[in-house]
Amino acid sequence: MKTYLVTGAAGFIGANYLKYILARHSDVRVVVLDLLTYAGYLGTIASDIDNDRCFFVKGDICDRGLIDSLFAEYRFDVVVNFAAESHVDRSIDNPQLFLQTNILGTQCLLDAARTAWVMGRDEQGYPTWRAGVRFHQVSTDEVYGSLGPTGYFTEQTPLCPHSPYSASKTSADHIVCAYRDTYHMPVSITRCSNNYGPYQFPEKLIPLVINNILESKKLPVYGKGENVRDWLYVDDHCKAIDMVVTQGAPGCIYNVGGHNERQNITIVKIIIDTVRQLMTDEPAYRSLLKKPVKGADGQTDISWINYDLITFVKDRLGHDQRYGIDPTKIGEELGWQPDTPFEVGIVKTVRWYLDHHDWVEAVSGSDYQLYYEKMYGGR
Ligand code: NAD
Ligand code: TYD
Repeated sequence: MKTYLVTGAAGFIGANYLKYILARHSDVRVVVLDLLTYAGYLGTIASDIDNDRCFFVKGDICDRGLIDSLFAEYRFDVVVNFAAESHVDRSIDNPQLFLQTNILGTQCLLDAARTAWVMGRDEQGYPTWRAGVRFHQVSTDEVYGSLGPTGYFTEQTPLCPHSPYSASKTSADHIVCAYRDTYHMPVSITRCSNNYGPYQFPEKLIPLVINNILESKKLPVYGKGENVRDWLYVDDHCKAIDMVVTQGAPGCIYNVGGHNERQNITIVKIIIDTVRQLMTDEPAYRSLLKKPVKGADGQTDISWINYDLITFVKDRLGHDQRYGIDPTKIGEELGWQPDTPFEVGIVKTVRWYLDHHDWVEAVSGSDYQLYYEKMYGGR
């Protein structure tokens, strides 16, 4: 039985990863550490922690005393660090919090792991490590910066972040590599493109658009909507992390992405079409509309769910133009490839949000309404 410390697993990707590994590895037990910030919701993983292989601890990855006590109690073999402040727009508003959590939090975890896992020293003075341990850092393609119309990010692309979020993630990557190079710590890093799927907090583009349609709100597209993101279904990211943690060589870095680049405006139009189609095929979904209006046929009208809902708003400061991942290395070395084509994943995702509107309402309380007003009110 291996014991994992998974941080940030009450958030979007961490929760999907928790479900993924509990379902696939009966010989793994997991301790979840999450501060339950606005982005973390315990209800997302309530059914997972109700299990003798999964325990939840509310706490901060910056709290060294807590992390040390967890290492002492559970003797972790693996740390997978998802915990982060993850929204670029919020990082523009409050960079300091991003530096605190994403950089210092990662360093705190690394150092606690070093203290717990070092067994002795080799003849050159490098630490020797307990067998089978691994520190995995969940990173992002945003560390590479922004691309022009051609080319892709490879693992050799120089790191060149622009937002406070991506700069903090880049710093964390550098610190992870510093522990690898200075202490020979068995680390790994995955740098993944934009994820989409169940349990993503509604501040991010895809759930925000779905939710706004249900609330009859305009769909805010930054700038001209021509920025390009490379979208990957969240389970495919979870599969990649699992492969890297269990099969990737210590010290390795892998890019993760499925060559699915789309302009933002295209994504928004696909969501509008998908919501309207699902409400046409299954009229019961129309009951989710906050402001239903009856049509001439007596049914709730959905003809207004069209591209006129799109509104172009002031652009994000320092908005990266294009991300595009080259995933050749993880494909060739570990045999990873995505299972979910975008056309399938996006319909699954929109349907999930319609089927789980109670989840959206639970996570987007009054704080989210205030955030939305502040971020979009005068835009
Ligand atoms: P998220 O914002 O949905 O979840 C973050 C989680 O971390 C939340 O549960 C939150 O409560 C927790 N958290 C925040 N600060 C904490 C702290 N100090 N101590 C403990 N827990 C804390 O984020 P996400 O989208 O699931 O992203 C997870 C990771 O994946 C992040 O490191 C992010 O940089 C990376 N990533 C995200 C994407 C994406 O498209 N969302 C793509 C590539 C990489
Ligand atoms: P987001 O989901 O915030 O992810 P990231 O900034 O990490 O890529 O945004 C995805 C893209 O969508 C990004 O180019 C910004 C854009 N966007 C909008 O146009 N409108 C919105 O309301 C949001 C949240 C994002």
